[in-house]
Amino acid sequence: MTSAPADQHRWERAAALGFGETEPVDPWSTEQIEGLGRQAWVVEDRDTIVGTSADLTWQLTLPGGTTTPVGAVIAVTTRASHRRRGVLTALMGAQLGAMTAGGIAAAVLTASEGTIYGRFGFGVATSQHQLVAPTGRHGLDHVPLGRIDLDEASVFRDEIVAFRRRVEGQRPGTLSRPELWWDHLVLGERRSFEGGGPQFVSLHRDADGSVDGYALWRLEGEWGQRTVVVRDLHTVDPQVELALFRHCAEIDLSSSVRWDTAPADSPIPAATADPRKCHIVGIRDQLWLCPLDPAGLLAARTYSAPLDLTLRVEGGASGWSAPTVTVRLRSRPGEPAEVIVLDQSSSDAPGTPSAGRSREAAPPSAPGPTASSESIASTQPGGPHVPDLTCDRATLGMAILGTTPWRTLAAAGRAHVTNPDVLSILDAAFASHPAPNSQDYF
Ligand SMILES: CC(C)(COP(=O)(O)OP(=O)(O)OC[C@H]1O[C@@H](n2cnc3c(N)ncnc32)[C@H](O)[C@@H]1OP(=O)(O)O)[C@@H](O)C(=O)NCCC(=O)NCCS
Repeated sequence: MTSAPADQHRWERAAALGFGETEPVDPWSTEQIEGLGRQAWVVEDRDTIVGTSADLTWQLTLPGGTTTPVGAVIAVTTRASHRRRGVLTALMGAQLGAMTAGGIAAAVLTASEGTIYGRFGFGVATSQHQLVAPTGRHGLDHVPLGRIDLDEASVFRDEIVAFRRRVEGQRPGTLSRPELWWDHLVLGERRSFEGGGPQFVSLHRDADGSVDGYALWRLEGEWGQRTVVVRDLHTVDPQVELALFRHCAEIDLSSSVRWDTAPADSPIPAATADPRKCHIVGIRDQLWLCPLDPAGLLAARTYSAPLDLTLRVEGGASGWSAPTVTVRLRSRPGEPAEVIVLDQSSSDAPGTPSAGRSREAAPPSAPGPTASSESIASTQPGGPHVPDLTCDRATLGMAILGTTPWRTLAAAGRAHVTNPDVLSILDAAFASHPAPNSQDYF
């Protein structure tokens, strides 16, 4: 049922139909597709493509500044005539299965609707904070503006690409952006779901003239009431973040400024004079993450506090054979974690409880830096292991970058602990500074 399409144009057109268009909005050339290494998937009914999906391998920054390869899922569609017949389920099963076999620790995506992907094991790994303010001074006159160079985006293309690449490892949740992606979807016309229109870059430089931050923005709305829409704002210096916000909030001939993807720890709302004028008006899901190899993923990040606990991550995701994995996670702050696979069931049918499954030693699946495998019999002779925490894959996806505290997940009924003290230990260890943030739509 599922295979790579032979004809690229057919796939592009089918994906366009799924999004309610007759032709691709942002068509890619064959060379671009090859350059990106895009793997495409289809479901066909006779000669008609009725389902599409694709994935690209990118790097995701984890807490501690390490990166891990992730499969970025794009262009998921089912033709309207074939909805709710399991087409998406078949696509997800094939795609996530292939990524797992390829040793990818996690799949990521941005979702058109919040109800689609939880069943497949995806959880909200980063949230976007929508910051809105009227244009004006906001009591930020004391914030030095530094030197700001402003021009249309293409003028500073190389400088912003190089700067973002330099700081990608400093904020968990950041995805590496291939150059082709920059040119096509960030700096290209991007008329699909970001509104289009010319884009500008305000480049902030330090005293030596080196770039230390930038805002990529465009103007939206009617003349006289336009909004400065910030698409990207990257810096590692909070003073530069304030300076760039001050700059964007003082652009003439506009009445408001909006940044949809501000990080949770942005200093802007706290620095401005009137909390009713500049504030977060909404928080919503941004990056969704499905842990394909929980042990490898847990081993790839570092932790903020010591921990030595046993975690069980249940399978039971719809459409693909996600095994239930029990691991012992040991870590000291700033050091690579040690993750020992205690138990791994071969696969679970949806909703099947994991208790009583095979307790054979399991090979580490695509181990992270220090993930290793060990028979449970060697650590717990004669009895099933009782994990300190049990959750499903989507819940681990919500916690892995430090976005949602384990205490919140337990209160929500998504994580189960044997002892409530475990939650304080986990929350101290999983907390991430800076806060996770992703500013990509795909
Ligand atoms: C989202 C979409 C791909 C789902 O495809 P589909 O082939 O109908 O999904 P499936 O038949 O495999 O559905 C699997 C399950 O998910 C549920 N589901 C799927 N899409 C859903 C949605 N949008 N809202 C609520 N539930 C949904 C189905 O009801 C089904 O549940 P069930 O097994 O309990 O009945 C399809 O609706 C679509 O193409 N939408 C427009 C494009 C889009 O939004 N793509 C997603 C981009 S991120």
